[in-house]
Amino acid sequence: MTPAATPGPDKDDVQPAITAHWSARAPEFDGVASHAAFPGLWRDVLEAAFQADGPRDVIDLGTGTGACAIVAASLGHRVRAFDGSPEMLAAASSAAHRARVAIEFEVALIKDVPAQPGSADIVTMRNVLWTLEDPLEALRVAHRLLRPDGLIVVSDGVWSVAPQYRATYAPEVAARLPLHDGITEDAMRRMLAEAGFGEATAWHHLFPTPPYPGDVPLFVLSAGKGEAGAATDEWTMAPHDLG
Ligand SMILES: C[S@@+](CC[C@H](N)C(=O)[O-])C[C@H]1O[C@@H](n2cnc3c(N)ncnc32)[C@H](O)[C@@H]1O
Repeated sequence: MTPAATPGPDKDDVQPAITAHWSARAPEFDGVASHAAFPGLWRDVLEAAFQADGPRDVIDLGTGTGACAIVAASLGHRVRAFDGSPEMLAAASSAAHRARVAIEFEVALIKDVPAQPGSADIVTMRNVLWTLEDPLEALRVAHRLLRPDGLIVVSDGVWSVAPQYRATYAPEVAARLPLHDGITEDAMRRMLAEAGFGEATAWHHLFPTPPYPGDVPLFVLSAGKGEAGAATDEWTMAPHDLG
C-alpha cells in the first residue's frame, strides 16, 4: 500500500512531521518490511555483527516496530529500545509479545534518549539515519551511550535506487534530510569515523539473497568506540583521578 504523503514541516522543527509520517505508517509497516519478510536472514547477519559471546546491554535507536530489538532480545541480550513515534512502539510491543521476548520500549527522540552515557555494549540503528535532520549528531549520541569497548551496528541503504519503496515525505520535509536519498557504505564509513568510531567491519556479504526488493545497495557495519571514545570515557567516568 502506498503511504499517504504527510504534511509539510513547521518552519523551525521538522521532527513532528517526521514522527507523524511514521505514526501513520505504523499499522502497515511490518507488512512491507524486510525484517518481516526475511526474519532468519536478519537474525543471522545481526547475530554475526554483534560479535557477542554472552548477554549484552543493547540499545536500539529509532526502533520502529522493533526489528533489531526483537532479534537482539531473542539472542538473549538485555534490550532497551526508543522511538519518537508511540504508534510504532505500540506495534513493536505487540511484535515482542508475539515473539515472547522482554524489551523495555520507551518513546524518546534520539537526541533526548533517557539512557546513561556509557550504559550500552551495543547500539543498533537500522534504516534510521536517512530519516534524520542531523544524522551525524545521532551517531554521536550512539557513541556517548556506548561503554569504552562497545560496538555500534548500523544498517542503511541507497534508497533512491528503488523509489517505489521509499517514504513519501512532503518535498519540504525531504529537503531537510541530508541523507534522504540514502547512504553508501563508503559514506557511512566516513561518518562513523567523523563521529569518533574506530574502523568499521562489514557484515552484509553474509546475506545469501538481497534482503530488499529492487536490489537496493545496503550495508550492515559494526564499529568499535575507537581510541578517542575510550580516552573520553576515562575522563568522564573517573573524575576523582583529576584531582
Ligand atoms: C524507517 S523506520 C526504521 C525502523 C526500524 N529501525 C527498522 O529497522 O525497521 C524509521 C524510524 O525512525 C523513527 N524516528 C525518526 N526520527 C526519529 C528521531 N529523531 N528519534 C527517534 N526515532 C526517530 C521513526 O519514528 C521510525 O520508527
